[in-house]
Amino acid sequence: MQIEALRLKNFRNYKELALSPHPGVNLFFGRNGSGKTNLLEAVHYCSLGRSHRISNDANVVKNGEAFALSSVSIQNMLGKREIAVRFHPDEVQKKTILIDQKKIAKFSDMMGCLRCVIFSPEDLGLIKEGPSLRRRYLDMMISQINKGYFIALQQYRAGMDQRNAVIRNMKTNGTGNLSILSAFEETMAEPAAVIIRERRKVIALLSEIATETYQRISDTDEVFKLSYHSSVKEENGIAETLCRLFRENREDDIRMGFTSVGPHRDDLILTLNRNQMKQFASQGQIRTAALSMKLSQMRILKDLSGEEPVLLLDDVMSELDRKRRACLIGEISDFQTFITCADRDDVDCDKVDRMWQVSAEDGEAIVEEI
Ligand SMILES: Nc1ncnc2c1ncn2[C@@H]1O[C@H](COP(=O)(O)OP(=O)(O)OP(=O)(O)O)[C@@H](O)[C@H]1O
Ligand SMILES: [Mg+2]
Repeated sequence: MQIEALRLKNFRNYKELALSPHPGVNLFFGRNGSGKTNLLEAVHYCSLGRSHRISNDANVVKNGEAFALSSVSIQNMLGKREIAVRFHPDEVQKKTILIDQKKIAKFSDMMGCLRCVIFSPEDLGLIKEGPSLRRRYLDMMISQINKGYFIALQQYRAGMDQRNAVIRNMKTNGTGNLSILSAFEETMAEPAAVIIRERRKVIALLSEIATETYQRISDTDEVFKLSYHSSVKEENGIAETLCRLFRENREDDIRMGFTSVGPHRDDLILTLNRNQMKQFASQGQIRTAALSMKLSQMRILKDLSGEEPVLLLDDVMSELDRKRRACLIGEISDFQTFITCADRDDVDCDKVDRMWQVSAEDGEAIVEEI
């Protein structure tokens, strides 16, 4: 899979941009704050319809402009496609997605059109921080290989919003309609079961690849493993178990004002030689684990979809030592890759097929091929 053209309009600090990336390795270098991450964010926007940054959609609109547009022309195994995402904060339908110039009715229809993996220094948080980053990592990966998973996530979140509204109402008023609560719990249980089943499946594959990748990068026999920690332990009857858990937790949930069990609270547990990494890992082990998780994500996306995702490496080269950098470079030869860095010497120029300089003038980004 590859991007043949990228076009932006009023996206972050880009007034207007049109570029044709190379099918191999593309390097974007430039000073801090010039617009390198913004460029990768725009690609991600066309892949998952949202930013990889934890940020409000409205922030992607260039200051003082009415809308932002990011669009890509891609070539995948099904042929050529054009994907465009437009964000217009003042319109009723703020986000519009067009595939081949036709507005799509459902967000899920864009999943899997442009598959990408993004790797940035913040990914160290996958190991060190709370479970939400790890769930996001899983959700973004699985949504790109399984549209049904993305739909289940949407349905589950919608059901939970409704259940939480009833719960908060009960907390405030002291009473409420239990049959409505029960109905919302039932609508959440089926999609929740899909989410849990798919996560279990992918994590099993991921763990196997990550163990091998970790040993290769670190040149040790340390065993890095990933496992799923869920409120549901049963193999079968997941939806029924969840319905029971929702029911059993109602009192606590009403007291706290939110739904306290379900896949939105599950975690991906990372261990090294059976010790939880979050508590025991050294800085170097954390870096190796984060890199292994990303390389495994690339492999899973490739193996399960049958084609290579586009790889976005945001400022990670300077963070990696020579060995880890060589490992990463060694893996990317099959993938169309966008690498950003402040200093172009951070990347071995022999491996780069096309190089671009990003600079900013009067707050606007300019990209020039070198
Ligand atoms: N909505 C927006 N409108 C205009 N400019 C914006 C908007 N959002 C961000 N910017 C500008 O974009 C620039 C940051 O761009 P970006 O994060 O891509 O930089 P970078 O090149 O990746 O820098 P670094 O090397 O420090 O990571 C900042 O100057 C910021 O002010
Ligand atoms: Mg950046």
